[in-house]
Amino acid sequence: MSTPARFSEDAWAGVATVETLVVTIGQLCTIHDPEQDLVGPRRRAALSDLGVVTGAAVAIGQGRILATGPEVELVARLWSGAAVPSGVKVVDAGGRAVVPGFVDPHTHTVFGKTRQDEYERRIKGETYLQIAAAGGGIHASVADTRSCTEAELTALATERLQEMQSWGTTTVEIKSGYGLTLTDEVKMLRSARAAAMATGMRAVLTCLAAHEIPAEFRQDRVGYVRLITEEILPLVAREKLAERCDIFCEPTVFSLEESVVILTRARDLGLRLTIHADELEAFGGAVLAARLGADSADHLIRIDQAGRDALRSSPTVAVLLPGTVFTLGLKCYAPARGMVDEGCAVALASDFNPGSCPILSMPLIMSIACTQMRLTPAESLVAATLNAAWALGQQQDVGSLAPGKKADFLILDNADYRLVSYRAGHNPVAAVFLGGQEIN
Ligand code: NIG
Ligand code: FE
Repeated sequence: MSTPARFSEDAWAGVATVETLVVTIGQLCTIHDPEQDLVGPRRRAALSDLGVVTGAAVAIGQGRILATGPEVELVARLWSGAAVPSGVKVVDAGGRAVVPGFVDPHTHTVFGKTRQDEYERRIKGETYLQIAAAGGGIHASVADTRSCTEAELTALATERLQEMQSWGTTTVEIKSGYGLTLTDEVKMLRSARAAAMATGMRAVLTCLAAHEIPAEFRQDRVGYVRLITEEILPLVAREKLAERCDIFCEPTVFSLEESVVILTRARDLGLRLTIHADELEAFGGAVLAARLGADSADHLIRIDQAGRDALRSSPTVAVLLPGTVFTLGLKCYAPARGMVDEGCAVALASDFNPGSCPILSMPLIMSIACTQMRLTPAESLVAATLNAAWALGQQQDVGSLAPGKKADFLILDNADYRLVSYRAGHNPVAAVFLGGQEIN
């Protein structure tokens, strides 16, 4: 485990480095604890430790957190009892709560059209797999995404990232996976990068060429696996189009053996790993993720005890996606409560995609996690910030308000973080700051 960057005490000598001071914070959830940060992602009781400071202030310089603490003490320490210098920009939080920006560690943000027709068909009784078998599902989005230009995809993804920001997401993971050819996967990843640049959103990109076997390879699975391992992944790694490789590891999609081949190749090329695992069946995806040292195993609706044991004793984060279960109208949420109590490192993500989850609001995901999976509001907040940052390998820079991390934070519209999940459907975000700058 690596240690988060920290400002040394020497930084205090340069008081002039404080550029912004956020004051009158009724409830500051730092989610910072120097000792636990050394250990790894939060587990068990540590998942609900928010590091709350009341009557707090946050000092920011060069886009990073310099210090947090009770306002009176912090100002006294920074300026030895003198008034805040006139050059420091003061932001008044008005007694409201401040939390880290949300980190959404699993999204499929780049695609063409939404698929509300399938939503209606499911409501009328068809299942996700029946619709997929009839040419809908991922295949429908593949055809559509292939027909879009890079500029069109970038424009659509940019709008979606802006909407995510308005709901408080400041770091996001974006997957390819609706291209399934070399050209179209590259087009998706370039669009994702351009949209992130356009919005200032911090983004981790993941190549999901192994999302499905495309129709033209249905009679030649080996050929498609070869295309991924010999052409797509090498190019993605060489051109640094993505940092990670994902795979839909399920009986109806990629087998365990195919997953091992693809993921091992990706790892050899220097890509980090994540797996869509144990969503439709307990299939060994979570065990494989832990064995290969993946960043995360995601979905886990059907995870069995072997999978839970594997994750409990590994640094691989369990990324749970309750918005998908909710959208599909299912009842089978991942066993989050038991997994947390057993010691798995649990994070939350939206799984935003045109088919199984059009939700891009992390507050709504947290709300579903609380009511349907019995996470507490505090656990849902850590799962959507610090543990989500660990799931993306971004814990050195984001996920908590620790000295040295990026000043990505939210001023809420109230003084109690619990209202984030309590008010399902409401947007609790009054202001979003990226690197210490408010966005609008
Ligand atoms: O994470 N599980 C696979 N992929 C997506 C669904 C994609 C789609 O239906 O377009 C998911 O749920
Ligand atoms: Fe997904």
